[in-house]
Amino acid sequence: MTVDYRGDARTGRRKSGLVWGVSTSNFQIEGGARTDGRGEGIWDTYARQQGRISSGDNGDVACDHYHRYAEDVALMRELGVDAYRFSLSWPRLLPRGRGAANEAGLAFYDRLIDALLAAEIEPWICLYHWDLPQALGDLGGWTNRDSAGWFADFTALVARRYGDRVRRFATFNEPNVFTLFGYGFGWHAPGIEDRTALHKAIHHVNLSHGAAVDVLRQTISEVSIGAIHNRQPCHPAGPGREDDEATQIFAQYWNDAFPYPQQFGSYPPALAEAIDPFQKPGDMARIARPIDWFGLNHYAPHYIKADSSKVIGSTFGAPPPEVPRTSMGWPIVPGAFRDTLIDIHSRFRLPIYVLENGTAAEDRLDSAGHVEDAGRIAYLEAYTSAMREAIVAGADVRGYFVWSLLDNFEWTAGYSQRFGIVYVDYATLKRVPKASARWYANLIAEDCRS
Ligand code: FCB
Repeated sequence: MTVDYRGDARTGRRKSGLVWGVSTSNFQIEGGARTDGRGEGIWDTYARQQGRISSGDNGDVACDHYHRYAEDVALMRELGVDAYRFSLSWPRLLPRGRGAANEAGLAFYDRLIDALLAAEIEPWICLYHWDLPQALGDLGGWTNRDSAGWFADFTALVARRYGDRVRRFATFNEPNVFTLFGYGFGWHAPGIEDRTALHKAIHHVNLSHGAAVDVLRQTISEVSIGAIHNRQPCHPAGPGREDDEATQIFAQYWNDAFPYPQQFGSYPPALAEAIDPFQKPGDMARIARPIDWFGLNHYAPHYIKADSSKVIGSTFGAPPPEVPRTSMGWPIVPGAFRDTLIDIHSRFRLPIYVLENGTAAEDRLDSAGHVEDAGRIAYLEAYTSAMREAIVAGADVRGYFVWSLLDNFEWTAGYSQRFGIVYVDYATLKRVPKASARWYANLIAEDCRS
């Protein structure tokens, strides 16, 4: 089976020219935590700490995708998606983070990639979705400047092994979230709340991004590289000047701390001074490597309040009461998605792929064994319409991937929040496509040229 390396595989079939896909991440679905030589990651450690994760959940079994990947690829084939974005487990491939590779782990992604290609689904690999090997966490994780070398070596292993079959690579998923939540707020692994650690981590992740871009370009001909950013409009939660100022600073951390250095070679003003002690001559040139597309994850606007106890002087406030919300409490504002796409287009001038959008809902199996998730369908209808409005307004959007294929481990919310268009019965691990899966399959089928 060959992949069309010149264009988007299968997009020729779409009237819209879009790539339609679904997204997942390794830690959230794979399970198989102690299978075939996988090492420990920082989320295994974090999940073991008392009170970190809702109901004390962990990723040991998750959706057991490690053993059920073939069934999951068959589900994607039924949906008719063009592409599948997933991430690789660094602790599965390099159990100690560096050094000896784990052949059984490498072979798992061979099987997955081959099954996808056989189903005519293009694999999109994200190198890092928050799951750092614990052995590297023990050395300071992303606060250690050596992390750029560790990440480059990991990328080289991946590129050499899968570059014959995979063309699409993203370096990092949401570097803003895992640095801010993991090192600034202490809400995600490794659970650190420290201003210095936060700024070191931001800079080293940017260096790692640049290093990985270089390795991918050197190793894979016609590779197509992007980074995946979570970008949302930020509004002050209250009317005062304090919230207003806090929001302006927060927005630079949230939206610009990674895309700005990566695209334009400089840090936004709110961060520049704090990053400075960790910069060495030549760093900016190492970070700002040309890439091919902008990956966007978008869910909801943020409402920010001043809070001097937090490392960046602000935190999340409450959305206005009239704004509808999902079961996560996230506001539903499709217009913010349209505006974000237009804004990215005007700032970055790169093709945009929406690599995550979707909603959690309180889904239940009904007595007939179905999941009628009308709320999710309404959300996806509104958000895909907003995307079409952005395209009409000139935004260069090339693809849309639903988060997520399966219900999964939603980080600190554990299994309590269901984002899938396929329901997972965690007692039996049975998969049940929800009404939204049928809705998405229809949307894709109707976008067929022939
Ligand atoms: C994003 C993450 C993804 C998932 C969704 C709901 O921030 O990238 O793993 O948790 O939110």
